[in-house]
Order: sequence, then C-alpha cells, then structure tokens
Amino acid sequence: LTATMDAADIQKGGFEHFMLKEIHEEPRAVRDTMAAYIKDDIQDLVKNLPDLSKYNEIHIVSCGSAMYAGMIAKSLIETKARVKVDVEIASEYRYKDPILSKDTLVLLVSQSGETADTLAALLLAKEQGIDTFAIVNVVGSSIAREAKYVAYTLAGPEIAVATTKAYCTQVALLSLIALNLAYIHNRITQKEIDQIIEEIHCLPDILNELLKDEQYITAGKIISRHSNVFFLGRGLDYALSMEGSLKLKEISYIHSEAYAAGELKHGTISLIEKGTPVIAICTDERLFEKTISNIKEVKARGANVILFVREGLNVSEDYYDYKIEIPKVDMMLQGIVTVVPLQLLSYQVANLRGCEIDQPRNLAKSVTVE
Ligand code: G6P
Repeated sequence: LTATMDAADIQKGGFEHFMLKEIHEEPRAVRDTMAAYIKDDIQDLVKNLPDLSKYNEIHIVSCGSAMYAGMIAKSLIETKARVKVDVEIASEYRYKDPILSKDTLVLLVSQSGETADTLAALLLAKEQGIDTFAIVNVVGSSIAREAKYVAYTLAGPEIAVATTKAYCTQVALLSLIALNLAYIHNRITQKEIDQIIEEIHCLPDILNELLKDEQYITAGKIISRHSNVFFLGRGLDYALSMEGSLKLKEISYIHSEAYAAGELKHGTISLIEKGTPVIAICTDERLFEKTISNIKEVKARGANVILFVREGLNVSEDYYDYKIEIPKVDMMLQGIVTVVPLQLLSYQVANLRGCEIDQPRNLAKSVTVE
C-alpha cells in the first residue's frame, strides 16, 4: 500500500489547508513578533521602535486586512495615548491630495510589502518630505526599502491568500506601538505597563487554548447555509467585526457586512428577518451594555445571534443562540486574542461549504497592480 502525498501536502504539515496551519502558527508568530520588541521592560520598546514623540497625527494607510489592523490601532492609540489617528484606504489616499504636515507620521501596514496602492501612498508622502514608517512582514520588500523607518512582523511566510497569522502579528505589533505611545505621552501607569507585559508573556498559551476548541464547527453550521450575515460591534469590537466579516466573505463567498452596532437602526435592521445570522462581538466592557441593547433589537426581529463575548461579561441566554467566550486580557491586547476565534469560524464555514479555502476565486495574495 502506498500513500500519495505531494509537496503541498507535506508543507501543510498535516493540516487540511494552509489557512488552518497558519492559524495554528499564530501563538508562535505573536510570541516572536512581540519578543522582538519587548522583553520585560517598557524601555525595550523605546529602544526598538522609532521615536514617535514628535508626531501629533498619524495616518495609517493600507489595504484589505492590513487596513482593518489599522482600525484596531486607531482605537487603541486614540483611547490610550490620545494621539489623533486617521485610517485610510491606500487607493483613496494616493489620489485625495492628503493634508500633511511635518508633525504627521504616515504609517504603512503591509504583509507583502509590495501592494501597489500602499507603496504609491508611501512614495507620495516621502516626496513631500513626510516621515514614513512601515510595518511589513516580508524582509527587503519594496515598502520596507522605501520607508524611513521599518518594523517587521515575524509571521514567517504566509501561503493562504486570506491573511491570518500576518494580520494577527500586525495587530500585535500595532498594539505595542499603541503601548509605546501611551508611555511616551504619560498616559499609562507603571502598574498597568507591568500587567500588560505580564500578559504579553501569557499570550501564546492563551492563543493555544483557543485553537483546541471544537465550538467553531457548531457555530459554523449555523451560518453555512445562509447567504447573508451581519457582524456587529462597537469601538475595538467594530474594528474586529470588519476583519471578521472580510475573512468570512473572502473564503466562504457568503455576503457579509460589518456594522457599528449603534448604526444598525439607520437602515440595515430592515434586512434582519427570521433566521438571519448576526455575529455580535462584545469584548469592551465600557460599551457592553450598549451593544447588548443592539443585540436585543436584532433578536427581537428573529436574528440567529452568535455572540462572541469576553469572559466575565454576563449576558442572558434570551439574547443569543450560540455563545463563544473570549478570554479576558488587557484592552491593549484584546484584539490579538479575539481575532483567532473569528478566523476559525470563517475557516469552518468555508470548509462546510466545500470552498477553495487557500485560493479563493478572483483574489491574489499580493496585489502589485492598481
Ligand atoms: C490582498 C490580500 C489580503 C491583504 C491585502 C493587503 O488583497 O488578499 O489578504 O490584506 O492584499 O496586502 P498586504 O500585503 O499589503 O498586507
């Protein structure tokens, strides 16, 4: 008896798809990325990141998931460091004649470092003498070479077209940048810093635990036969909703939209009918009650609610159909933890639908043309 295995199967290391393998690499990728910038002391960050103290405004410019990582960074930097952040789609930014000053930092986020629109946005800022800082995964890529400052994510090579581990490391590194900014602007206490550093050391174990769970298959079955799905969240959870929604639509071909939960009533709620799946994300304690009231609104209209809720936040069983608990970490690190279950859910839905998970139709890993 001979078993046949091609080179791709061997590279998949026993996983059915590269995407699943890469999700399982996240604990390692996040650990390596964070350890490259911080060990036990906030001064590590000061040494390992460029001095960002002089900028009073940051433009985060990127495409796709990298842009949604930027949305998480905006939420953290504005809340925790009180520095103004705009997140811009690179293909818009490059043609809008952005308002730039010497106090503006243009922060590019890119896995490949080759995305044409992101590179063009960088060159535009550079030509005007504006400082540029690139967060890139591929060493020596065009964006890495052109930027004034570079910080690498250490995700390693990513094969699946839909990004998972690279996105996760972008969120991790951007969270460190937010922490650094909060520190240099005196917006965080030493006690809070110590607690965050302690939690950073625990993150790989927390992520590993999340990977063991079977509940994503059960949740996936609720969604897989539908053709429309909505994601809801507020604040940081809204930023996460957008990435969760993008991941689901790109690999499962289910139409999906993410809404700021409070915006729902301004139109989208008309689309909610009996059985419509709504994925609600609720990790931010400060906004918890508000999001729950929006969940009640969709539930009352018959939605099938899958609730991603941070542990310790209690929700009555009347308001959801299926619940997935997210471990509690400091808000500064919450995005890194919450995204893993969202990726696993998308993966399971696409798998149940028999989709070409690693190579979705019409999509490219690296978009080097306009
Ligand atoms: C493509 C990929 C996405 C990625 C985006 C930006 O659309 O399919 O996964 O988020 O490009 O790519 P970058 O390499 O700049 O992060």
